Amino acid sequence: MTLLKQFQIKHPIFLAPMAGVSTPALAAEVSNQGGLGSLGLGSSTLQDARQQILQTQALTQQPFQVNFFCHQSAALDQDSAKQWIEYLTPQFEKYHATAPSELKCIYHSFLDNDDYLNLVLETRPKAVSFHFGIPHAHQIQALKDAGILIMVSATNLTEAQAIEAAGIDVIIAQGIEAGGHRGIFNASLDSALMTADLVQLFTQHCNLPIVAAGGIMDGQQAQRLIKLGAAAVQLGTAFVQCKSSNANAAYRKALFNNPITQISSSISGRAARGLINHWHLQIDQPDRPTVATYPYCYDLGKQLNAAALAQGDEGFGAFWAGSNVVQIRDLEAADLINQLVLEMTQH
Ligand SMILES: Cc1cc2nc3c(=O)[nH]c(=O)nc-3n(C[C@H](O)[C@H](O)[C@H](O)COP(=O)(O)O)c2cc1C
Repeated sequence: MTLLKQFQIKHPIFLAPMAGVSTPALAAEVSNQGGLGSLGLGSSTLQDARQQILQTQALTQQPFQVNFFCHQSAALDQDSAKQWIEYLTPQFEKYHATAPSELKCIYHSFLDNDDYLNLVLETRPKAVSFHFGIPHAHQIQALKDAGILIMVSATNLTEAQAIEAAGIDVIIAQGIEAGGHRGIFNASLDSALMTADLVQLFTQHCNLPIVAAGGIMDGQQAQRLIKLGAAAVQLGTAFVQCKSSNANAAYRKALFNNPITQISSSISGRAARGLINHWHLQIDQPDRPTVATYPYCYDLGKQLNAAALAQGDEGFGAFWAGSNVVQIRDLEAADLINQLVLEMTQH
């Protein structure tokens, strides 16, 4: 069966799940236009996740996917947390704020319990995708029994082979160009492979359909990856500027005015690609201490951003963007899908 038939969609174009940025309106707009809409629910509470899924279902009859984080929950390393708080304390003081003395675990992993699994089984989206790892065997089985398609991001061949061995349906080949966090299973093992190289590697060594993600901004780039073996493409950054996304005004402005990205682990505790701002220019000094454990580190990052925003400084935002953000276009989601389809058929 082709991927289009499997997902019951018209175009091989997926909206990337983007926690904090994707919305039911954006997901539904993409799905209604014949692509696969998505919700990034990794940072959502159970209640918020439920609400987003129900809202999307109210806005579209078409298939969409939901996305969760599958990281190995690590205990907070108290020493590095203390050092990291101390390192960022002068920044808080600059904005007349006090750094917290303790860091909270702000995101929970799908692996920690079956609450998110039960929500998915209850609400039955067409597909569910996972970031940072593979769900437990009983979770995979339950999703399969419910007829829900399962996708997992891979950033190198060993991850892709583990995904295939676990009985997952689709591999997302997420290259170094990708905006935000890549779904690396073991954060200390970054293979830094490019999207086109991953697509070729996985096509040669795996049997599952591959969805290419990372640095895709137009139909020519998408078509090139399809020619290399991808069954579909997934775009994140290109959709952040759409009116129906949740991006704030500063983020939208920076996408067009400051379109250069850099990878940093200072914001969340895991490497992620975003528009260059204070994090990269002030915090990522060569003598910077080791960052606090993910996602505790992100608790501090968000608090520093709030303190800076309260004083009118937008430079500590987590403005995730892919390396080809300079090619971003001012197009609403439905128009962007139409434009991508047109460009793909011309190549
Ligand atoms: C703002 C933003 C948030 C993201 N959040 C998630 C997420 O919650 N889950 C996920 O699997 N990937 C997330 N990603 C990565 C995307 O799924 C995708 O791999 C990436 O956007 C592809 O690269 P591109 O941005 O160059 O299109 C995010 C990307 C961006 C830009």
